[in-house]
Amino acid sequence: MQRKNQTLGEFIIENQKDFPYASGELSRLINSIRLAAKMVNHEVNKAGLVDITGAVGETNIQGEDQQKLDVLANETFINTLTNREIVCGIASEENDEFITIKGQKNDHRNSYVVLMDPLDGSSNIDVNVSVGTIFSIYRRVTPAGTPVTLEDFLQPGNLQVAAGYIIYGTSTMLVYTTGNGVNGFTLNPALGTYYLSHPNMKFPEDGHIYSVNEGNYIHFPQGIKDYIKYCQEEKEDRPYTSRYIGSLVSDIHRNMIKGGVYLYPSTSKSPNGKLRLLYECNPMAFITEQAGGKASDGYRRILDIKPTNLHERTPFVCGSKNMVEKVESFME
Ligand code: AHG
Ligand code: MN
Ligand code: MN
Repeated sequence: MQRKNQTLGEFIIENQKDFPYASGELSRLINSIRLAAKMVNHEVNKAGLVDITGAVGETNIQGEDQQKLDVLANETFINTLTNREIVCGIASEENDEFITIKGQKNDHRNSYVVLMDPLDGSSNIDVNVSVGTIFSIYRRVTPAGTPVTLEDFLQPGNLQVAAGYIIYGTSTMLVYTTGNGVNGFTLNPALGTYYLSHPNMKFPEDGHIYSVNEGNYIHFPQGIKDYIKYCQEEKEDRPYTSRYIGSLVSDIHRNMIKGGVYLYPSTSKSPNGKLRLLYECNPMAFITEQAGGKASDGYRRILDIKPTNLHERTPFVCGSKNMVEKVESFME
């Protein structure tokens, strides 16, 4: 059941029974994410005020400069998720290795693993542009009572039990799915409460927006170059509009509302593109499919890829169904 103006807390309780393992654990997990998101939101919002922006000087495993807020968001989510009897392991874009959580009784009994990009698009912070958090949740595959292993994290996206993102934009929203459609909640900062503002979100089947870093055009595969030219052609409803924030969460959020396609293709420099399968593409693909859209690497469904390493990357095409299919037809 959904009512507009329902709070996220009410929504979680009322929809708990729709979840296949109705133990209440997943609800508590989503609850802790909503709490961590409030804390990160608070930090992101005051980023312009305090001397907190700029690179820490460390480099993460991807070879990128780490921003202070990346570190802070990472710690906030890890701490919030650790202090509950739910999560047995966390993998984060900011950590080289996964983290094992023993649980309060040290018995490794917890059932869920969380994979996350605690702050995506963080280079946008310095210039006051939207950033996001992306999370992906699985049930462990190894037996409860034993420490988590890499196998628990390297599951194909089609086994996700929940996924979502938080967008720290003009308003802060939490959008998530547990496999029964996608719902969006907007934070009322005065009350610290999220309200159901976007029930049952759906990608329009078609759209007029394409989102890609065209600066890399020269390095794109021929199929992507041809698709971009197709978007720019003067025909029927074309040329399309180009919109690229450079913040995956914001670009996909906009396209889900207005209709569009996001592309981060392979380039001659990075044959697997830039985005990480486990922290960025799988959760966004799950949400996209739950909203009636499609997500592909240009040839195959993102959610069917069997990961082989925690930080692996994949080309990513995601958005309105007909637009993604069009891209795939150009890639053939
Ligand atoms: P990061 O995880 O390092 O913050 O990367 C952001 C991602 C994604 O949000 C965005 O769409 C893309 O990188 C932008 O990359 P380009 O600057 O290469 O276009
Ligand atoms: Mn990222
Ligand atoms: Mn990040």
